[in-house]
Amino acid sequence: MFTKDHKLIAPSILSADFARLAEEVAAVEAAGADVIHVDVMDGHFVPNLTIGPVVVEWLRKVTRLPLDCHLMITDPDRYIGEFVAAGADCITVHQEACPHLHRTVQLIREEGAKAGRKVMTGVSINPATPVETLSEILPDCDLVLIMSVNPGFGGQKFIPGALDKVRRLRRMVDERRLSTYIEIDGGIKADNIAQVAKAGVDVFVAGSAVFNADDYGASIGALKAAV
Ligand code: DX5
Ligand code: ZN
Repeated sequence: MFTKDHKLIAPSILSADFARLAEEVAAVEAAGADVIHVDVMDGHFVPNLTIGPVVVEWLRKVTRLPLDCHLMITDPDRYIGEFVAAGADCITVHQEACPHLHRTVQLIREEGAKAGRKVMTGVSINPATPVETLSEILPDCDLVLIMSVNPGFGGQKFIPGALDKVRRLRRMVDERRLSTYIEIDGGIKADNIAQVAKAGVDVFVAGSAVFNADDYGASIGALKAAV
């Protein structure tokens, strides 16, 4: 499970070698990763296609790290049960994709309870969506994911406006004495992670910064050292 004991590094397998996924996940686990971030894209909500519950099911067999499933898909309610059954530990949906966000978040909780385990509820917002829009749903979220790029692709540049959104969200969480994790996704590198951590982030997704290196121990080590 996730922990508040230290900052968490969550390599995104979007930048891994998909033909050797088990090896790649084992390698980042050995290199000190805390969470495995799984980017699910449907070609509708975002202009890219990736993977579904079948891959999560196989990943569950090869790692003990929490599987953090980031659903960049329209109508996620249709698939939440399948992701829970496959072994997801956290399911994050997009606010922009859910007209009945409260119902969707409860569905994640209920499917987890049905499966006899705690599945964390996550809500993500795109760069143009204000954090204030989460005011009502915040107490029901175990995690909020702030996108610091437009979702769809790895290797994009960090959008600086995300920093102030993190600060505002941190204030909302602390003022209301909630224990919500704040996660950031997109353009995180060793040279900006400290600044982002200072704004109040708990969980750092990093795709290209981890996998576009020859030595994952070095790339994850650099992120951990900087944070
Ligand atoms: C983008 C995905 C990210 C992506 C991050 O839509 O949600 O998780 O893999 O990649 P980097 O760290 O390379 O920006
Ligand atoms: Zn992601």
